[in-house]
Amino acid sequence: MGLLAIIGGSGFKSLPGLQQLDARQLETPYGDTSAPVTRGRLGEAEVLFIPRHGPSHHLPPHRINYRANLWALRESGADRVIGLAAVGGITPAFGPCVISVPDQVIDYTHGREHTLYDGTTGEVEHIDLTAPYSDALRQALIDVCSECGQSIVPHGCYGATQGPRLETAAEIRRCERDGCDMVGMTGMPEASLARELRLCYASLAFVVNWAAGKSGSIITMKEIEENLDLCAERVMAVLTAAAQS
Ligand code: HPA
Repeated sequence: MGLLAIIGGSGFKSLPGLQQLDARQLETPYGDTSAPVTRGRLGEAEVLFIPRHGPSHHLPPHRINYRANLWALRESGADRVIGLAAVGGITPAFGPCVISVPDQVIDYTHGREHTLYDGTTGEVEHIDLTAPYSDALRQALIDVCSECGQSIVPHGCYGATQGPRLETAAEIRRCERDGCDMVGMTGMPEASLARELRLCYASLAFVVNWAAGKSGSIITMKEIEENLDLCAERVMAVLTAAAQS
């Protein structure tokens, strides 16, 4: 079996508790990764890690080289990838600090390098994305959550928006009408590129704010950061347990 890789997002430019073994900057056919790929130990398990926004969180969601990051993880031995995702909650079950393993995604992003089949490779494969996340990896995450007593919402539709700005209230109402439960900025094209690269991919999402128009007030970075801090320990407990399983 290959290695489990973790892609860190907001709040996770490093992984607390990860004991680093090495870090490699790989050359990829798609350009630079967000950061070197770290190989390390989480508990007893060896895992790979990359922070998608870079080591100092300098890359906005539309500038992340999703293709390079996933390619480099696969090249480093990954066969499974968990993408961490700080999200805004839309539907009532997705309030602040809820952790979820989404099962669907709607892509509202644009202008991103979103495929390996960009006309330069001489072939095009139309991958199936009916279920955009790996059922096996989702189930593994759901199982470890119940084993380690973490309550989660084991499904949900993730709306991937362009960012870096947050949404308008009307945009969130549209996302809700479309069927989105949560909203984030980096879930796509990460999920579909992982499928193109034949990597098993799942998202571990944690709600850091009510999405625009869903609470009586505007969204502040202070609120987001406070909720990130509140979620971090539980997210790490789930990840560490998932790495051992
Ligand atoms: N919208 C989009 N992305 C996000 C949000 C949000 O409200 N919160 C965290 N990431």
